[in-house]
Parts: sequence; C-alpha cells; structure tokens
Amino acid sequence: MEIFKKVYSFAEQRGKYMGRAILLLSLGAVFGVVPYYEVYRIILQLISHSTEPGPYIGGAAIILVSLLLKNLATEYGLKASHHLAYNTLAGMRKHAADKLLKMPMGNIQQYGSGELKKIFVENIEAMELVLAHGIPEGIGNILGIIVTLLAMFFVDWRLALLSLAVLPIGMLVIGIMGRNSSKKLAHYYQSSQNMNNSIVEYIRGMKVIKVFVRGDTSFAQYRKAIREYKEFSLDWYKSCWKYMAVYGVILPATWLFVLPFGMLFYLEGSLGFAALVLSLLFALAVGPMFMKLVVFIPILPTLTEKYKRIEVLYDQPDMKSGHIDEKLEYCTVAFENVTFAYQEKEVLRNINFVAREGQVTALVGESGAGKSTVGRLLARFWDVKSGSIKLNGIDIREYSFDALMDSVSYVTQDSFLFDTTIMENLRHGNPKATEEEVIAIAKKARCHDFIAGLPSGYQTKVGEAGDRLSGGQRQRITIARAMLKNSPIVILDEATSSTDTENEDLIQEALNELLLGKTVLVIAHRLSTIAHADSILVLKHGEIAAMGTHAELLAASKDYQHMWKRYEATADWKYQTQEIGG
Ligand SMILES: Nc1ncnc2c1ncn2[C@@H]1O[C@H](COP(=O)(O)OP(=O)(O)OP(=O)(O)O)[C@@H](O)[C@H]1O
Ligand SMILES: [Mg+2]
Repeated sequence: MEIFKKVYSFAEQRGKYMGRAILLLSLGAVFGVVPYYEVYRIILQLISHSTEPGPYIGGAAIILVSLLLKNLATEYGLKASHHLAYNTLAGMRKHAADKLLKMPMGNIQQYGSGELKKIFVENIEAMELVLAHGIPEGIGNILGIIVTLLAMFFVDWRLALLSLAVLPIGMLVIGIMGRNSSKKLAHYYQSSQNMNNSIVEYIRGMKVIKVFVRGDTSFAQYRKAIREYKEFSLDWYKSCWKYMAVYGVILPATWLFVLPFGMLFYLEGSLGFAALVLSLLFALAVGPMFMKLVVFIPILPTLTEKYKRIEVLYDQPDMKSGHIDEKLEYCTVAFENVTFAYQEKEVLRNINFVAREGQVTALVGESGAGKSTVGRLLARFWDVKSGSIKLNGIDIREYSFDALMDSVSYVTQDSFLFDTTIMENLRHGNPKATEEEVIAIAKKARCHDFIAGLPSGYQTKVGEAGDRLSGGQRQRITIARAMLKNSPIVILDEATSSTDTENEDLIQEALNELLLGKTVLVIAHRLSTIAHADSILVLKHGEIAAMGTHAELLAASKDYQHMWKRYEATADWKYQTQEIGG
C-alpha cells in the first residue's frame, strides 16, 4: 500500500479522478446486486402462484435498468481510473527523465540501456494495472461487498457470517502461495532484466555482429537470456498455479456453507423460505466480488518488485543545480587544482589551466591520458573530486543546469542525431530558431548543399536518410546544431578525426565559423588542427606535463616533440600513399 501511495503522488489532479473512479465503481458494484434482489422478488411471485404480469415485467425492467446502470457506472468509473493511471504513468516517466538529467553520467552508465528501457517502459507501464483497475475496482468491490453483507445480515445474520467462511480459507491459500513464490520472483526479475539488456545489445551491436560474423556467439547469448527468462517465468508460474486454482474455486463458492446450513435452518424452522432464497441469492452476488478483490493479489509482489527498481533509479543522488541562472555571453574557463576519479583510480590530478574567450586551448596526449575527461567535467557530466572549475571566476556548481547547458556546447566524434527530421535535429541547438535562421546556420556549417539534395530536404528524417549521410556530414550537422546554440564555450572532442581530407576541410571551415570569438577547448589527435591553438596542454597520465604554444612546446617539451615527430611521420606516410594512389 505504501508503494501505491508513492506511485499516486506522481499523478496530477489525483483527488478528482480518484474520487470519481471510486464513487462510480462502487455504484456499479451496488447496481450489480440489485438484479439478485429482483430475482428474489420474482421467485416470491412465482411461489405465490401469481399470474398478474405487472410484477414480473416490472422486475425484469428493474433488472435491465440496473444492469445498464451498473455497466454505465463501471465504464465511466474505469474511464476516470484510466485518466488517473495514465496521468500517473506520465508523471513517473517525466520524473525518471528529469532524474537522468540530474544524475552524474557515471551513474547512468552503470545501467545497461536495456535496463533503463525496461524501467521507463515496462516497469512503469505495469503500474497501470493496479492504478486503473486494482485499487479503484478493489475499493468499489469492497463497498459492494459491505452493502451486500449488510443486507444479508439484515435477512439472516447466521447465513451472512457463513458466506464469509470461504474468506479465511482463500486467504490462507493465497498467503502460502505468496511465501512459496517470492523466492522465484527475484530470479524471474533478474532474468527478465538480463533478457532486456541482451536484446538491446544484440540490436545495437548488429553492425559489428554482421561484420565480424559473430552471429553465433552473440546469438547464443541472446538465446540463453531468452531461455532463462522462459524457464524462470514458467518456474514462477508453476509455483503459483495450483494455489490459484484452489482459491479460484473456493472464494467465489460462497454457497459452500450457506446452502447446506440454510437448508438446515429452514428445515428446523428457524429460517423462512423467502429469507433462505434471498440469502442464497446475495451469497451468489458476493462470490464474484470476492474473486475480483483477490484477482490482483498474485501480481502484487511482481508490481512491488518492479516499483522497487523504479525507486532505485528515483533515489539515485542528484548532482545539485546551482542558483546562478544567467546565460553567459563571454566566458573564461579556469581549472583549479582539479582532481577526478571515475571510481577509485584517479584519472586527473592537479589540473590547472585557464582558457580565455576568443582563444583556442588544445588538449593533446596519449589515448587514456584524460583529455575527454577534462571536457566531460567542464560539461558537468561528472563533478570534480577536489579542486574546482570556474566560469568567469565562479564555480560551475553554482550555475543552474540550464545556465550551464546554455553556456557549453560539446561536439563529440560520435555525432549523435535523433531519429527525427534534420530540421528538428538542428533545432535542438535552439528550439526558438526560425527556419530561415536554421538554414543560414546550415549554410555556414557547410551542410546546406547536401541537405537540400536529400529527397525531402530539411524534412528528411535522419533514420530514412540512414547511410546516405556520411560520417562527415553527420558531424557537420552536429556542428551546425552547436552553432545554433551559440554558447560561449565550445568543447570539440576529436571532432575531425574520422573523415577524409575533403570532409576535413569542410568541417574545418564549419568549425572556424563556429569557434569565432568563443572559448574553445579542442581535444585532438591530429596535431595539424591544433598547431595554431593559442595554448596547448600536454596531458600525460592525468597530469599536465607541459603547456605552451606549438613553438614553445616544440622547443621545451620532450613529450610534445615526440608526438609531433610521430604525427609528421604519419602525415608523410599519408601524403605518400595519396601520391601513389592518386
Ligand atoms: N566512464 C568511465 N568509467 C571509468 N573509467 C573511465 C570512464 N571513461 C574513461 N575512463 C578512464 O579514464 C581514463 C581517461 O579517459 P579519457 O576518456 O579521458 O581519455 P582520453 O585522453 O580522452 O583518451 P582517448 O584519446 O583514447 O579518447 C582512461 O584510463 C579511461 O579508461
Ligand atoms: Mg577521448
């Protein structure tokens, strides 16, 4: 119950919808009892050998009307409960999405994408059953049962009590079932999660699987996950079904005691015939309500388990958003004694540097030296362990997430595009931009020509364009997106690494436009792209080994000399192969 209180707290206007749902569903349950009473009255007419048609027709009409009202009330009640349920689900999904925005990237990465998908889609969806049906119908049925039982007590209290006798037996069976199946449920859950992860992995890795003809191994993993899920689900179901069958028979069988004892009381003269008939009919009415009440019980543990997993996500610590809300126009970035570790091992130590507006600061170093980490810390994907990163002298943790997001653009190598139109993708940079503004920027970013050449131009969906977009083109779209955002700080992480020379020139032109007047942090393997940087930091094992301009470093830093020599050798080699090839 505790859980559902929490779940409901995500619904907007819950009081209104909940009240309406319970009222209507209770009315539905009560209208459902009326026909039994009318049948009783008709039987009495029959027994008295009445041939007068009026009471029969009247009785039938009342039955018809009450059934109609029952259905109407139930339908409208369910409509309200579904409103409530889907409001709640929407609230929960929004909360989950907000949570991801506030969580450090590291904590997000601990989840497989299959697992996150499962939480967002299935676990939250599972709450619908109990929100739209379980609780409101349950309360409606409880009221229906109370009204019927009160009527029964009024007719004969002994039979009313006897009709309740099936309850403890049914509950006992349900209790035993819950105890036996709870252990299996954990396995069932784990396997369902594994299956989700391996399905998502399998689909996401399809390109690699095809190229490396690893279908067999990957498929074997996928099959194993599916087989385990099947086995654990069946195992769980097997541990429950016998009990389900037993209480499924016992609970609606309210006649079990009412009929024999009712006969006995009638024969010994302590109960009139009419009262016997009425009690039997009421017992008949109350049985299905008992059943409806417990029908959700077997799935309650699964829902609790599902909610727990949602809650673990909700309870993840937030990165605290600061209070400064203004968007920065110009910005000087300063790293002061920054130390950082993803887990235990420090990957950055005592990083100190200043990147000024209108200047390009480059980060170079071996793979794994910590270059991208510097960029990620500046974008606040993670928080520093010690030291601080300051924008115009103020710690980034004091800026609100919105202000920070507005101030920093992060262009990475894996130019991620959403599967919507190219126009929408570009607009992510600035949702308020007009179509003309977007096109003007696309022209600057050297994207316009190829976009205009696509079948639906800017309205082409990225998914439809599919392989038609080259890596370089995708990259230029992400650059245009960043240009539209027009933030004062731009981080470029290996932004020019995966393209051919022609594309590289185009990208470089696009970047020159993007970077004009900004505070730029470039992370690059190709030293040619950063040779003109205002300041170059050489990172080595998480520390700044040297700092200066290209000329200064060539003169003073052994690490940089080494890297530059190696770069020249590969550039020569590339040049030669191009000569031979061309
Ligand atoms: N999400 C992560 N969780 C744990 N460790 C990480 C994570 N990302 C990076 N690391 C580790 O941190 C160190 C620095 O990584 P980083 O990505 O900053 O290197 P890099 O200099 O950008 O390398 P490259 O040139 O290959 O891109 C590496 O040892 C890497 O294994
Ligand atoms: Mg990197």
